[in-house]
Amino acid sequence: MKCREIRDSFLGFFAERGHLIMPGAPLVTDDPTTLFTVAGMQPYIAAFRGEEKPPAPRVAGIQKCARMGDLERVGRSATHHTFFEMLGNFSFGDYFKQGAIEYAWEYVVDVLGIPREDLWITVFQDDDEAERLWHEHIGVPLQRIVRLGRGENWWPQERWEGPCGPCTEIHLDFGPGVGCGRPDCSPACECNRFVELWNLVFQMYTEAPDGTLTELPAPGVDTGMGLERLAMILQGKRFSAETDEMWRIIERTIAIARDEWGRELSYGADPEVDVALRVICDHARGAAMITADGIAPTNEGAGYVLRRFLRRAYRFGLDLGASGPFMYKLLPTVAEVMGEAYPELRERQE
Ligand code: GLY
Repeated sequence: MKCREIRDSFLGFFAERGHLIMPGAPLVTDDPTTLFTVAGMQPYIAAFRGEEKPPAPRVAGIQKCARMGDLERVGRSATHHTFFEMLGNFSFGDYFKQGAIEYAWEYVVDVLGIPREDLWITVFQDDDEAERLWHEHIGVPLQRIVRLGRGENWWPQERWEGPCGPCTEIHLDFGPGVGCGRPDCSPACECNRFVELWNLVFQMYTEAPDGTLTELPAPGVDTGMGLERLAMILQGKRFSAETDEMWRIIERTIAIARDEWGRELSYGADPEVDVALRVICDHARGAAMITADGIAPTNEGAGYVLRRFLRRAYRFGLDLGASGPFMYKLLPTVAEVMGEAYPELRERQE
C-alpha cells in the first residue's frame, strides 16, 4: 500500500466503526509546554481531563507530529524521524481496553494482512487485564506477550502533568535471522529484530510532579501508529525513508546532485551517502511543514528548529558535494508528494 492508500484505509476503517474523522491540529502549537505537536492525543488533552467536551465519544485522525529527541538518530536508524505522521483512534469514556485491542488487531491482521504469527505484544507490568484480553480473547500465545515497565509501557515516557496511563504495544517480528540472534530476544531487546508498530494507551490518570496519580473523570483510549513505519513494513523496505513518498524526495536530491553539482550519487552504494540522503529527506519534510504553519527561520522557538533543519541538511549536502543552497528546490517535491494530505503545503508554497 502506498502512503496515500494507508491514510485512506485507516480513516475509512475507523469511520465505518462510528468514529468521527477529525482534521489534524497544526504542527506548531500554542501549547506552552511543547513547541510542536508531539502526539495525536495532544489536541485532546482538555477532553481527556474532562475540561472540554470532546468532538464525539470516539474520533480518529492523522496528526502531524515532530519530536526533536531523536534528531541524532535520523538517517541512521531505520525508523526515526523528526517529522512524522501519527495515525490514531481515540475514545473519551466510550470503548476501553477491549475495544481498543479488538480494533487494532482487526485492522493490522484482517485489513492490512500482516501475519498474526509475526506479531508480538507488550503490556504494562501490572496490567493483567490487557494480557488476558490479548491471550484469551484475541488468541495471542503467552510466549509472544511480554510485560514491560514504566520506561516502555507507560505513556508518556517522560513525566508530564497531562493525561497518562499504561499502554500496550503491537510489535512486528522480522524473525530470528535479524538482530542479536539471542534465543531470548523479544520486543524488550534493543536490536533491530522487532519494530514497534502501534501503541495503545489506556488514558486513566493525570500525574502530579510528585508522582501522585489522580484518576481522569472517565478512562479513555489514545492510540498512535507511525505512518512511516507502517509503510516501511507494508512496502517491504529496510528504512522508512525508502517508502514511496520519501523516496521521491531522495530521488529529487539525487537528480539535483547530478544536474547541478556534477555528482553521480547512487543510493545503496555507500552507507554514509545513504545516511545523508535520508537526513536531507527528513529535514526537507520538517522544514516544509514548519514553514507551512507560517514560521520563518529565527533564533528561537520553532523558527530556530526550522533554521537548524536548513543548516543541518545543508551540512549533510556539503558531504554529498553540494555547491550552493538546495533545500528550497526540495520543498516543491515535498508539496507535490504530501500536498494532497496536507493542502497547506501547496497553498503556502510561495
Ligand atoms: N499517545 C500515544 C503515542 O504517541 O504513542
